[in-house]
Amino acid sequence: MRVGVVADNLVESLALTAGAVPEPVVLGAWGLFASRLLLAGAKLGVFDALTDRTADAATLAKELGLSVEGLERLLRALNGLGYLKRSRGRYSLSALSKKWLARGSKSSMKDALLFLEELWSWTSHLEAGVRTGRGIRLHDDGVLSPESWGRYLRGLATFAAPAGKEIVRRIKFARPPAKLLDVGGGHGMYSVEFCRRHPGLKAEVLDLPEAAAHGRKIVEEAGFDARVTFRPGDMRTDEWGTGYDAILLFNVLHNATEAEAKVVLRKARAAIAPGGVLAIQESEYKQTEGDLSFTAGFGELFFFLVSGAQTWPEPTLRAWLVEAGFERVRTQRLWLAPAVVVSGLGPKG
Ligand SMILES: C[S@@+](CC[C@H](N)C(=O)[O-])C[C@H]1O[C@@H](n2cnc3c(N)ncnc32)[C@H](O)[C@@H]1O
Repeated sequence: MRVGVVADNLVESLALTAGAVPEPVVLGAWGLFASRLLLAGAKLGVFDALTDRTADAATLAKELGLSVEGLERLLRALNGLGYLKRSRGRYSLSALSKKWLARGSKSSMKDALLFLEELWSWTSHLEAGVRTGRGIRLHDDGVLSPESWGRYLRGLATFAAPAGKEIVRRIKFARPPAKLLDVGGGHGMYSVEFCRRHPGLKAEVLDLPEAAAHGRKIVEEAGFDARVTFRPGDMRTDEWGTGYDAILLFNVLHNATEAEAKVVLRKARAAIAPGGVLAIQESEYKQTEGDLSFTAGFGELFFFLVSGAQTWPEPTLRAWLVEAGFERVRTQRLWLAPAVVVSGLGPKG
């Protein structure tokens, strides 16, 4: 998936074809404005307030405690962007907003938009990271405020539902699983998906204290707090326990150096039940000398920037699993996310 410059009319289309449009500036500026507009719409409650109704700026401004002058302009801009419809001065959600942003929509991505605010501040370290060769370590003590942790984990939770549904269908167990450990599980929603799929399953999320505090609330809102519990701790140094039918390491190893990742995998090997499944989910990392997709290229830069580590190539993950003693190591590429799941079984003997 990539973002590009799209013509609004024939003249613009001809200009684009003729190479007369300064695309780097249009892409840079429009991308920035679009991001900011969507974030403002979500933060100020515009999409929520327009769910299932049509309203004018004055009515909305009164309800939301905003100025009519400012809101009218924001609504017009969101209309221009295609996220609101406008007729005789009244506004309603466009089809795109109804699906992705309406209050109560099953596919709502509102929390992912609110997470943009964090991404704005994290990516402001980009030039410094490239200059010095050192990223920030986001999860270290005190780097994120409690509010930032909340926006971060709620944002990620929105992606867990679609990817999680696919993953739970594709990970097979020799017997119905009873005990799952979700290491760095954060919001806990992957554990929730596993519990939905396997009625006899109980899950425990091992994550840093700041994350566990938010994860508990998210899981409670999903109605799974009796089956998904949280254990605050550090995966590198704390006890994991034993006898797990499943251990998840989803989007976690890109926060770890190679030495830390190897420690984590040895702990996983000690904690897994015979025949239990260890599953690692990571963004796809293309080991290629040629062109990269935007997703792959930016993904690499992003994880370097925010975790001071990197996305690990799938062959590296496989080799580490074998080295740690896992058997029948395999890779599955996901359809619903640009990610891979590398899994292995705990030895039987
Ligand atoms: C990118 S998030 C992934 C969350 C979830 N597993 C997912 O896939 O959406 C990384 C998670 O790893 C957790 N984490 C980072 N370092 C950790 C550590 N040393 N011990 C335990 N959890 C850690 C973070 O708090 C965060 O919840």
